Amino acid sequence: MSASTEFPLFVSAGDILTDLVRTGDSQWLSRPGGAGWNVARAVARLGLPTACAGSLGTDNFSDELWNASLAAGLDMRFMQRVERPPLLAIVHQTHPPAYFFMGENGADLAFDPSRLPQGWMNQVKWAHFGCISLVRQPLGDTLATLAAQLRERGVKISFDPNYRNLMAHGYEPTLRKMAALADLIKVSDEDLGLLFKTSEAEALAELRAMNPKATILVTRGSEKATLIEGDTIVEAQPPRVEVADTVGAGDASIGGLLFSLMTAPQRTWQEHLAFALAAGAAACRHAGAHSPSLDEVVALLEG
Ligand SMILES: Nc1ncnc2c1ncn2[C@@H]1O[C@H](COP(=O)(O)OP(=O)(O)O)[C@@H](O)[C@H]1O
Ligand SMILES: [Mg+2]
Repeated sequence: MSASTEFPLFVSAGDILTDLVRTGDSQWLSRPGGAGWNVARAVARLGLPTACAGSLGTDNFSDELWNASLAAGLDMRFMQRVERPPLLAIVHQTHPPAYFFMGENGADLAFDPSRLPQGWMNQVKWAHFGCISLVRQPLGDTLATLAAQLRERGVKISFDPNYRNLMAHGYEPTLRKMAALADLIKVSDEDLGLLFKTSEAEALAELRAMNPKATILVTRGSEKATLIEGDTIVEAQPPRVEVADTVGAGDASIGGLLFSLMTAPQRTWQEHLAFALAAGAAACRHAGAHSPSLDEVVALLEG
């Protein structure tokens, strides 16, 4: 088989955008981002053949995302381009965060799975879904349908809702559908509170009821995280690190867990969790959504 016909083992679908972050009264910093894109970069950096499946525009921001994806080693056959406006997250305040999205009729909405390379579904082991792409129609339905198709073919599904203000109303059917499809669900303590508007314990019980068979990772920033797999519940403290910022920490942690599951299935759940938390902590040591290398993660695990 030639290199060009080999397909990724991991595909993160959707959620690729540009963050425009205010840095002064009328000063702005643009930064390639999107939770799904961060998860793809995390797994690629750790060392597995990976793609981020989505659609970009033909503008400057989309060029930057394209180039950064290329630099991250993502399989570019999964990145489509159309002449439509880019999706932007305008983060006009960071403490506390305040944001809105721009992307009416955006390029992301045009993602077309039928244009992906023939045969990719035969090779992929895990696919990841989440965040605002699932609530941007018709993309949301496209992705939910793709997730269902993949699952039917035996591909494992990972889901991180990643609460955003677009989910304040009407998100429950999407949450229910994606949770039911998922083999692995990642939530932060904040996600649980905002999605279910109740105590963490009650929210977790509601989430588990949506799919008792799913493995659930609950992260709590620098505090203890929990991994639930059937009757097994394991907990661990993330490694202590000097934090530059926590952007993309959750994405690195789920990326780390997926990498651990795919490359070291013999590990115990406690070991998988430790790897995920080390990956999350490693991401915090550098500003922006840093994707840690395997060496960085292993160093923290051994430290
Ligand atoms: N201050 C921190 N110190 C060390 N690790 C952290 C810190 N914040 C986040 N992490 C790591 O990233 C993981 C996910 O962070 P969390 O904030 O819970 O998720 P999210 O980014 O989705 O909100 C944590 O479980 C931990 O491994
Ligand atoms: Mg998160």
